[in-house]
Amino acid sequence: MKEFTYIDLFCGIGGFHQAMKELGGKCVYACDIDADCRKTYERNYGIRPDGDITVVKEEDIPHHNVLCGGFPCQAFSKAGKRLGFADETKGTLFFDILRIMNYHKPEYALLENVRNLASHDHGNTWKVIHDSLVNAGYNVLDEPVIFSPHYIGIPQHRERVFIMCVRKDIGDLPPFYFNQERIPPCRIEDILLSDSEIPDLDRYRLKPQQIEWIDNWNEFLQGIRCDKLPGFPVWADSLCAVEDNPMAGQWNQLPGWMKTFIKKNSELWENNKEFIDAWLEKAKKNPLFFGAKAKLEWQAGETKHPDVWQHIMQIRPSGLRVKPGTYFPALVAITQTSIVGKRKRFLTPRECARLQSFPDSFMYDDKNSQAYKQFGNSINVALVKLFAQYMFGDRDVQEKYSFKAQFGKASEPTLFPDMP
Ligand SMILES: C[S@@+](CC[C@H](N)C(=O)[O-])C[C@H]1O[C@@H](n2cnc3c(N)ncnc32)[C@H](O)[C@@H]1O
Repeated sequence: MKEFTYIDLFCGIGGFHQAMKELGGKCVYACDIDADCRKTYERNYGIRPDGDITVVKEEDIPHHNVLCGGFPCQAFSKAGKRLGFADETKGTLFFDILRIMNYHKPEYALLENVRNLASHDHGNTWKVIHDSLVNAGYNVLDEPVIFSPHYIGIPQHRERVFIMCVRKDIGDLPPFYFNQERIPPCRIEDILLSDSEIPDLDRYRLKPQQIEWIDNWNEFLQGIRCDKLPGFPVWADSLCAVEDNPMAGQWNQLPGWMKTFIKKNSELWENNKEFIDAWLEKAKKNPLFFGAKAKLEWQAGETKHPDVWQHIMQIRPSGLRVKPGTYFPALVAITQTSIVGKRKRFLTPRECARLQSFPDSFMYDDKNSQAYKQFGNSINVALVKLFAQYMFGDRDVQEKYSFKAQFGKASEPTLFPDMP
């Protein structure tokens, strides 16, 4: 589409806005209940979003060609199943999307939600959403499309459900295919700033005690002898005989999964007693080595020479989590900012903006905690563009995600081929 108008519901800081603007769209309405998001949005796009959508009357929203909405996921009531779709969606924010679509009948709508939407309530949530949109007069693919920035080489693993809606009189929506075997290699360097480009670099650098604490875990991984790196959580207080475990007194009350991990930790210790005892003595001297920081979750696959500094790390309540060094785990709204092992520092807000494909001209919140939270809630701009182009009927994009282009064959084999 050359020129079009759109509305941005649940706009956050404007992931949809950025993409639609780049495609030539003009925003005529936005809303978000969060005042800090609204400030960032206005600062960047010159539009002051409305607040709570549930109190906005559909007739007060301007006419538009495209409706965009990254709506919060909520369960649908089981009671509603007997009452029909409108009743079933009432009380959820999806209902607000639906009432606005039913009133304005925009040509297109692009919605986004967490991956879990696809399987939520044994598929019922997806079915309600799908059938409600179809009943409202739209072509919608039968299966939810799950897509992540890392599928197209952007180094963030963030699987989300994308729902494309094309009003039935406008045209078809061809099935969308993606072949997981075609995921390209990702490089975190594509979004990293060089340290000299970060004016307040010290703010992001790991402190000497943090480096020493992580170094200790690195020595642990490099020092233990085992067939496979521990795929289970390593708990320093369980690196001992089971009977010496601090939890041994309550053994019978412990849940099964905890007993399993305690036993696995104990086995690891049994096979590496000498090394682990000496290592524990040293590690415990670091004042950070307690609580969650005395736990390790290696989630970076098998390697003969583990080196956490080549990986991405997160400090989580469950321990120091080590992930592959090629892409970042999904940005999240809570404070679990990733550590870039190679740089011995935390990811900066500008790098988070890049992970969500915002341009470097994007002005994020002055408070870093807000900026991290807002990028964690946001949508990847490049993916919005991709799905908008697909939905608008861009031939090149539709061809790229056709069955033939993705799987090299003319069409999907039918389940029941004609009998000879
Ligand atoms: C997943 S985020 C969407 C983020 C957005 N797509 C972006 O690019 O930043 C969902 C947003 O819905 C907003 N929200 C939740 N309840 C709302 C309501 N009743 N009315 C308007 N916005 C609401 C939240 O504040 C949050 O920013």
